[in-house]
Amino acid sequence: IADIQDDIDHELVSREEIAAKIQGVADQVSRDYRDKDVLLVAVLKGAVNTVVALSQAMSIPVQMDFMSLSSYGSGTTSSGTVTVRQDLSTDVRGRHILIAEDIVDSGRTLAWLVDELRRRGAASVEIFALLEKPARREVEVDVKYKGFEIPDEFVVGFGLDYAERYRNLDSIAVLKPRVYQGDES
Ligand code: PRP
Ligand code: MN
Ligand code: MG
Repeated sequence: IADIQDDIDHELVSREEIAAKIQGVADQVSRDYRDKDVLLVAVLKGAVNTVVALSQAMSIPVQMDFMSLSSYGSGTTSSGTVTVRQDLSTDVRGRHILIAEDIVDSGRTLAWLVDELRRRGAASVEIFALLEKPARREVEVDVKYKGFEIPDEFVVGFGLDYAERYRNLDSIAVLKPRVYQGDES
């Protein structure tokens, strides 16, 4: 029987470190949006764990909506084009939006989303990204609320997938090379 731990080479960020970082960001965000009606926008699927953790750590009531975007497909490198798999159900005109995202890699997903939300008439758009890979940035994205900077390794867990699996790992980790080679042993 497959055990998720058997596929992990090493952990990069522990669940405790993630929780502590997100609590710090949530405190700051709760202060910054105290007098504003904030709409949390999660970028599915990767941001699912991040938006739950952030929202539960916040002390102010929030609205949430979800947009499913894809730039990666099933591989380990970005395709460069953003596909909308599922759109928001909220009219964002005049809204103060805080995007929750799991990782900024090339920056293309968030650059596209920020442009799109502004085009739709949002009053403000800010970003919380749990992870950033500065070495791979291709386009400029202004991340106001920052999590962890990580090296240029393919990571999974806390929402991040490899070929749609491993999102349910509760930490951020690097997989064993054999996992990418499709070796079942
Ligand atoms: C991943 C990740 C970010 C994006 C980052 O999503 O969750 O949304 O790629 O890459 P970028 O900065 O190069 O655009 P993915 O396309 O894998 O979809 P998913 O969230 O459903 O896994
Ligand atoms: Mn994503
Ligand atoms: Mg993905």
